[in-house]
Amino acid sequence: MSKLIAPSILAADFANLQRDIEMVNNSEADWFHIDIMDGVFVPNISFGMPVLKAIAQHAKKTIDVHLMIVDPDRYIKTFAQLGSDILTVHYEACTHLHRSLQAIKAEGMKAGVALNPHTNVSLLEDVIQDIDLVCLMSVNPGFGGQSFIENTYSKIAQLKALIAKKGAATQIEIDGGVTNKNATQLVAAGADVLVAGSYVFNSANPLATIAQLKAQIA
Ligand code: DX5
Ligand code: ZN
Repeated sequence: MSKLIAPSILAADFANLQRDIEMVNNSEADWFHIDIMDGVFVPNISFGMPVLKAIAQHAKKTIDVHLMIVDPDRYIKTFAQLGSDILTVHYEACTHLHRSLQAIKAEGMKAGVALNPHTNVSLLEDVIQDIDLVCLMSVNPGFGGQSFIENTYSKIAQLKALIAKKGAATQIEIDGGVTNKNATQLVAAGADVLVAGSYVFNSANPLATIAQLKAQIA
């Protein structure tokens, strides 16, 4: 299966959001990665429902929503109504993860689970077959523009082995500090989807940067 690029809109220019969304529409990127932060689960607040609604009105590709919020069950239906195709909750924020995953799927979305850098992949052993996407955080969630944590490579290998052992069809997404310096190695290790925020949007030519990343992992 071809490897995917998901630009993180957190790094877009919010004063020119429609322009940046159209850039992603016209690019070789595959998904829109949307970071929702509540200032409680993570020490930052990004944006919420009205902004996602505006994004969804223009986005022509898969909308991959990454919830960095406590008790995400409260908003599963809302995010489905707003146009999320994939809804990812944090392992650390869900007391009843299995139930949350079923609730996401019942709303017609793909279900994702994100793991903080300190959270061991083995904790997903009993639920991996119910997960469409595991998002391995390669930075501590809350902010764009942080440095990639090198331990992520061994987590990818562990997760890939778990997926194979259980015969699951789970995709592996890497989120945080992705650049042209680590993209090739991440995909070689087993990543399926690379999220890239500041590397794309802070570059001189985001369209070309996406094309280069995509060519690099093809
Ligand atoms: C971090 C977010 C990431 C972030 C990635 O909490 O989940 O998606 O936007 O940004 P970069 O690519 O700049 O590390
Ligand atoms: Zn994210």
